[in-house]
Amino acid sequence: MENMPRKAAILGTGSWASAFGRHLCHKWERVVLWGIDEKQVRSINQTGTNPDYLGSIVLPPNLRATLDLSDALVRADIVFIVVPSQAVRSVMKQVVASGALPPTIPLVNLAKGFEVDTLERLSEVIIEELATLAPPSPHPIAVLLGPSHAEEVALELPTAVVLSGQEGGDWGHWQAWISGPYFRVYTNPDMAGVEFASAFKNIIALAVGMADGLGAGDNTRGTLMTRGMVELARLGKALGGRPDTFAGLAGIGDMITTCISHHSRNRNFGQAVTAGDRTPEELLAGWVQVVEGVEMAKAALKLGQKHNVELPITKQVHDVLFSGKPPRQAMRELMERELRPESD
Ligand SMILES: NC(=O)c1ccc[n+]([C@@H]2O[C@H](COP(=O)([O-])OP(=O)(O)OC[C@H]3O[C@@H](n4cnc5c(N)ncnc54)[C@H](O)[C@@H]3O)[C@@H](O)[C@H]2O)c1
Repeated sequence: MENMPRKAAILGTGSWASAFGRHLCHKWERVVLWGIDEKQVRSINQTGTNPDYLGSIVLPPNLRATLDLSDALVRADIVFIVVPSQAVRSVMKQVVASGALPPTIPLVNLAKGFEVDTLERLSEVIIEELATLAPPSPHPIAVLLGPSHAEEVALELPTAVVLSGQEGGDWGHWQAWISGPYFRVYTNPDMAGVEFASAFKNIIALAVGMADGLGAGDNTRGTLMTRGMVELARLGKALGGRPDTFAGLAGIGDMITTCISHHSRNRNFGQAVTAGDRTPEELLAGWVQVVEGVEMAKAALKLGQKHNVELPITKQVHDVLFSGKPPRQAMRELMERELRPESD
């Protein structure tokens, strides 16, 4: 393919970093994962597997991992950021401090979430940290988000995602270079909407998990997903996202996948909360992988208050997670809310 880039740096060595890196290796000459976990890095390099996250799935020989950030960044044509959302700023600070980021290359965020402390989108966090580069260097920023469980991408099951970047970036080419036979990339200019939708759907997955744990049926699941998308779209629009983005892959697409999948940590975590043998805090402490929706429930509620947007499902999820409200009471309160037209 014309001017095909050669090296991708992926920041992260978890499930999604490994599965996405594995996918890129079909097409790209070299993919280097940077991580902080010695065990994961050693395993990827020595056994060609990442058993903590992807079981026995084999990683290709042109994928390697390193603990040295400069090693990953040097001569990279693009950087993909695939760490938990609350780690994006600290990772970006290290990228800037390394002095090894090649000038003008794009950075693409794959983490789903908001920065809870600042209530900023992750693309905003990345832009802020890049602004501290000396000498300054323009780097186009994008996000690559949508319904893409790592476990399924690693098995090469058909998947579609959205690439949404800043104006002026060469995203049409990157779309082609990232796409593959089982990994279809669409573009969407609404970066804010794509980021809002991706971050907040995990809250509704927690709600669906809780409902499942209470023995709810398909009617309940369908209702939570639909009304959940209504409230998240309401917030996303108030914050500058476009309505049609919420009906797209990063919106309802990712919402459905996350809420129905047994791979979804957020859904599974919500279900585990209803068992009642441990508090949400205790459960979280023992959970190996990131459960982004927990922190997002806090962030979305704060944003809702700031922008005067009502978020009934988010509020109940928040109260179960942080105020000790029993999930059954949360469900009852949702059902007993004042009756209203659907379009409200
Ligand atoms: N797993 C998926 O299917 C999937 C799909 C799409 C998007 N995502 C998003 O990708 C991001 C990463 O998720 P994941 O599933 O790969 O997580 P994970 O829990 O599988 O792995 C997280 C990785 O980040 C590393 N890490 C943690 N804190 C770090 C820090 N401070 N600095 C550097 N590295 C750090 C860990 O060592 C680990 O390698 C999340 O935002 C998630 O929402 C995940």
